[in-house]
Amino acid sequence: MGLIYAEQVEEMDVEEMQATHENEIQILNDIDKLATQCQIQKTPTDALEAKLHEYVEHVHKHFANEERLMQKYNFPKYEMHKTAHDIFLSDLEHSSREWRKYGDFKKILNFIRKTPEWIVLHVNSVDAPTAAYLAQKMKED
Ligand SMILES: [Fe+2]
Ligand SMILES: [Fe+2]
Repeated sequence: MGLIYAEQVEEMDVEEMQATHENEIQILNDIDKLATQCQIQKTPTDALEAKLHEYVEHVHKHFANEERLMQKYNFPKYEMHKTAHDIFLSDLEHSSREWRKYGDFKKILNFIRKTPEWIVLHVNSVDAPTAAYLAQKMKED
């Protein structure tokens, strides 16, 4: 069973936002699967470590791209949306630092396993109205 399903998050009116969300959900589920295998088989964690790095990079690009679109189209609630991203990033950075410091992937894995709830809430209540606004502005362009 996966950590999170694409069906749990609302479909975005902006295709690139939708694609980013689907990719991120895929990465999260890959991490969950790899972490479970590592715990059962005690196999080397290279694939998992690579996925974790991919995830951190993906989140940064995901948020930066939404912020770029919001600025480009003068989204009125930009500050509120950006603050939500910044709070998440600071928690992510904290667990990443612990992971690097102790060489223990569980430091970041524990954080990641708690994120689906935040993601579903953020996508459905913050990204969805943002995407609806952006799609409207893009049509007028
Ligand atoms: Fe998003
Ligand atoms: Fe967002």
